[in-house]
Parts: sequence; C-alpha cells; structure tokens
Amino acid sequence: MQHAITISTPIDFHLHIRSGRMLKTVLPHTANEYGAALIMPNLKPPVTSIGQAEAFKKEIMQALPEDTAFTPLMSLYFTRNLTSQTIREASASGIIKAVKLYPAGATTNSDSGVNDYEGIRGTLETMAETGMPLLVHGEVTDKAVDVFDREARFIEDILEPVRRQVPGLKVVMEHITTKEAVQYVLAADETLAATITAHHLLLNRNAMFQGGMNPHHYCLPILKRERHREALVKAATSGSKKFFLGSDSAPHPKGEKECACGCAGIYTAYSSLCLYAEVFEKENALDRLEGFAGFHGADFYGIPRNKGTVTLVKEETIIPDSFTFGEDVVVPFRSGGTVGWRVAG
Ligand code: NCD
Ligand code: ZN
Repeated sequence: MQHAITISTPIDFHLHIRSGRMLKTVLPHTANEYGAALIMPNLKPPVTSIGQAEAFKKEIMQALPEDTAFTPLMSLYFTRNLTSQTIREASASGIIKAVKLYPAGATTNSDSGVNDYEGIRGTLETMAETGMPLLVHGEVTDKAVDVFDREARFIEDILEPVRRQVPGLKVVMEHITTKEAVQYVLAADETLAATITAHHLLLNRNAMFQGGMNPHHYCLPILKRERHREALVKAATSGSKKFFLGSDSAPHPKGEKECACGCAGIYTAYSSLCLYAEVFEKENALDRLEGFAGFHGADFYGIPRNKGTVTLVKEETIIPDSFTFGEDVVVPFRSGGTVGWRVAG
C-alpha cells in the first residue's frame, strides 16, 4: 500500500469561490491544495466584461493568505450580448482563459445565460478563430425533459449541432455525469475535453436520499445512477488526456441549502484533491492522478504546467462540521466525517 504520493502542483479547472466574506473563507481551502484554478463567472451580477474579470481577480489576490502562491485563471460569462469584439480583446488580454456558457435557467445564477444558439454563432466562430475555449454547462433546460436525462439530451440537441456548425471550436463539457457524455467525449476529436468532479466520482444518486433527504448532496448536473458513476471513474483514471480535474466546488450558506427549495451546489474545496486521491487509490491508479489533476487540463488550455509539487499522505483526516463566514456558515462535503488523505505540503 502506498503511504504518500508527490505530484506536480495541481490545477482545479472548475471552481466557484463567490466574492466578499464567502470568498475569504473558501479560497484558502483551494489554495492549500492547488496552485491555480479556473474561476467560474456566475457571480451576481455575472462577470461579463474584461474589466469585471480584472476586478474580480484583484479581489481574489487580496483575499489570498500571505505567502500563498496561487493563480486565479479567469473566465467570462456567455450572455447573448457577448460580441466577437470582446472575444478578440479577451483573447489578447491574457487574463481571460475561457468563456462559460450556461443555458439560461439551467443552474445557480444562470438567468443571464443563452437560449438562442443560432444568435451566438458569430461569437462562437470568433472563439474558434482565436482559440478561446468554450466551457459548457451541458444540460437542456426544457422542463418536460426528465432531470436525469438533461445532460444526454444536451449532447444530441445542442452540443453536437454547435460543434458541427463551428468546426475547430475548443469545448470543455463541464462536470460530466453520464456514460453518454464519456462516450461522446472519447469519440470526438481533440477539440473536445471534459472535467469530472470528485463528488460525481464518489457518489451515485442514492446518496441524495440515504437516511432521509440530504440537501448537501444536491448539485447540478444531478447525481446519476451507479453505472454512470462507474463510467466516470473509468474515464478519469484511464489516463486519457481528454479528462481532467474540475471540482465544481460550489459553496452556499447553510440556510440556503437546508431549506425548502435549497440551492444546487456541493462544497468540496476543503478536501477535493484528497477526495480524488481516494478514487484513484481504489482503482489502483494513483500514478495517473498527476496527469488528471494538472497536465491534461493545462495542455488542453495551452497554459504552462504548474511548477512545484504537492505531497499527499495517506492518513484519515477529519473534515470540520462547517466553516464560518460573517454571521453564516458553509457546510462542507462529508461534514464531520473523514477523508483518507491529507496534504502535507
Ligand atoms: C453551481 C453554483 O452553485 O454556482 N452549482 C452546482 O450545483 N454545480 C453552478 C453550476 O456549476 O451548475
Ligand atoms: Zn459549476
């Protein structure tokens, strides 16, 4: 049995950190495990301009604990008003690494998203031209479609037609949750990749209902059947460069999770790298963690691989019940439980 593993400092390619007091609480957790993270733009209001992204980056840098080396990689929010001109400027700016597309109404803070894909064709073509990656929250929003089928339908109804109409567009399917998505990504050319969360690798949909309804296991895309979880584990641990780490850690105040009509989002940042290590260890694939947790994503985005290393030690570690921010608290994944690994530095 392996007791420790040292890997190149990893990158989280899909992270929600919010702003203000929440940001100050959650950011150190990610900075403790990762050297960089791709920051999602679904703030209220969303990050739609380069100026807003610069201001957000500044806020993140100020919230970092002293002597912490951490690089926020910024993204823009795709609204119907996003122009080709902004894409060109974003591409030249060096600060914007991707544009995130939420189908309008698909998830938390997605009201400003897109619902007319024909109308954004010109912008997508400029993204293909400039090499700016499009990140998609891959779920259809049609209320008539079963919530467990929304990802598979998105591939058929939206993603495949868009990719056919805009050849060369680099796309990351974010937080994939189904066997259909794994198969679609594997069958596609090198312009398509996908991130996978720790919670979708560890849980199937039963986890939402075990011993009562558990709002802390509710996220979007929603947890799926066991056979889908197994397909995700196989993809993540396969060594394929098309899959990489994106935790989708999404903190919400406790009261907005534990209530009628609670928010979607699971807060994994306190231990996400260690959670991934559990999955890879179980699959006897710890030697593939480094590629998944940094190299594959950096190579896809064409950004430098992180310098430095992180060592994980196999040691049962307690996860606190909650973390305070202001008057409120955020409840982490496995609150009050344990994770099998610890970051040693
Ligand atoms: C995310 C959030 O809370 O911002 N929630 C989630 O369930 N994953 C939004 C998202 O990525 O869908
Ligand atoms: Zn997300």
